[in-house]
Amino acid sequence: MGLNSADEIVTIDGPAGAGKSTISRKLAKRLGYVYLDTGAMYRAVAVLAQKEGVHPEDEEALERLCRHLDIDFQESGTNQRIFCQGDDVTEEIRAPQIGSLASKVSMRRSVRRAMVNLQRKIGEKGKVVAEGRDTGTVVFPRAKYKFFLSANLHERGRRRYAELKAKGVDVVLDEVKEEMEKRDVQDSTRELAPLRPAEGARIIDSTTLTPDEVIEEIMKFIKLKRP
Ligand code: DC
Repeated sequence: MGLNSADEIVTIDGPAGAGKSTISRKLAKRLGYVYLDTGAMYRAVAVLAQKEGVHPEDEEALERLCRHLDIDFQESGTNQRIFCQGDDVTEEIRAPQIGSLASKVSMRRSVRRAMVNLQRKIGEKGKVVAEGRDTGTVVFPRAKYKFFLSANLHERGRRRYAELKAKGVDVVLDEVKEEMEKRDVQDSTRELAPLRPAEGARIIDSTTLTPDEVIEEIMKFIKLKRP
């Protein structure tokens, strides 16, 4: 049987700070696939909404915003940069308050519809590692390799705190944890595409694992299921 594009899509979902980005980026490189950071797209919408003074609950204004939305990823050396309306927003989208705002705008139907369409277009040809909250449940439900990455709240908070500190962002550990917990509740209890493991997803708890150990676990599963 020949390969179809679903055979070449890996989805990695999970809560904030579970290590999805580190793992997905490394895995994409190892497999020679495109890395699709769906969270960065919701963050870009949040940045644009903030710039244009659009309230995260104003569905109509968000729908208008999404109609003329232009989000683009570009590879730059070992990094990936994200552009929104032609502006490089790679750094700006990582601010903690943009994470909260992204979680709010991502609850809106028009925003999800626009993002999912764009994500499917990027995944059309296969060879994609997609990471987010709904990549295995909604965006690519037919993907062959699905993973759900988790870790306990303390460890996730610690990782995110260290990451932000290393970037020179001034944060307090307890506040990082609190913001993360709030976002988890919001992302898991929303009506549309709530965060949950996809059917058939392999659940990996990364609390005590290094990124390389997680990758090995993922590779073992992929090899087992390869057609
Ligand atoms: O993964 P992240 O922290 O960059 O995501 C930011 C927010 O975007 C997250 O709190 C919820 C939303 N999101 C989503 O709703 N669906 C996705 N597939 C990815 C992110």
